[in-house]
Amino acid sequence: MTATVGDYAEHYETIGVEIGEGVAVVMVDRSEVRNAINDQVQAELHDVLASVRERDDVGAVIITGAGTRTFAAGADIAQLRDRNLHAGLAAGMQHLYDELEAFDKPTIAAVNGYALGGGCELAMACDIRIAADTASFGLPETALSILPGAGGTQRLARLVGTGRAIEMILTGRRISAEEAHRIGLVTSVVSSEVLLEAAQDCARQILARGPLAVRLAKLVVRTGMNTDQHTGLVVERLAQALLYTTDDKREGVEAFLAKRTPTFTGR
Ligand code: COA
Repeated sequence: MTATVGDYAEHYETIGVEIGEGVAVVMVDRSEVRNAINDQVQAELHDVLASVRERDDVGAVIITGAGTRTFAAGADIAQLRDRNLHAGLAAGMQHLYDELEAFDKPTIAAVNGYALGGGCELAMACDIRIAADTASFGLPETALSILPGAGGTQRLARLVGTGRAIEMILTGRRISAEEAHRIGLVTSVVSSEVLLEAAQDCARQILARGPLAVRLAKLVVRTGMNTDQHTGLVVERLAQALLYTTDDKREGVEAFLAKRTPTFTGR
């Protein structure tokens, strides 16, 4: 890790940020309440995303939780006391996770423990989810007589299917990393000791590829999931046509044919 994190460390109280080798590792850090996500965490996550978006030296983001037991135990229940109709309609956390899902750089959740409620929703808003074998997932909100309102009702169903999503939401059942993997909620499961390494390795693989292609591929998949297939295919075609005009496409093809490693410039 390089020293560029100093600025961030001074700014944030509830998250840690480390930047190195093209990757920003963002860590929710409120161990005393199992990394519960309060308004300050949300504001700081929003802020760091805005800042990372502008940085050419960061090509991917890893999100994780402090400690070894918890990714994030959901929204801060103490703050839920004051949530009213207007707060619900404002849907701050839903907007934040929408922003994360649409973030123009790839995001990887390194799920190191409990990912419950808004923690599970945070992971689901990321592009790739790698779980420690000790992690567990659940949407327990109905026990508080609320629902998973930061995208949980929508993203879980899209990831694992309607039946499984409704079962998990209505019962609040917590599932293991292994089950999460089996039903498609996480991309892979690794031992907790190598979790961050696995996430870094995944980021490195992405960073070795054409950055414009990575950015557009994410955009096209995300857009396609929110529209019909025909429209998705048109978007795919247009994105490909754009990529055909880039220096990086020429470089990628020439490098392959010359059996050398490509040097991409993002142009
Ligand atoms: N919001 C606020 N505080 C929380 C919290 C949350 N989402 N999750 C945990 N905490 C607090 C607890 O109140 C407790 O505080 P205390 O030390 O002052 O008593 C502390 O964190 C430790 O929690 P505890 O339940 O004792 O830890 P545990 O290791 O036994 O269990 C969890 C961990 C994550 C399984 C459990 O804390 C839990 O179920 N949390 C709530 C999950 C949830 O319902 N999320 C959806 C919220 S909408």
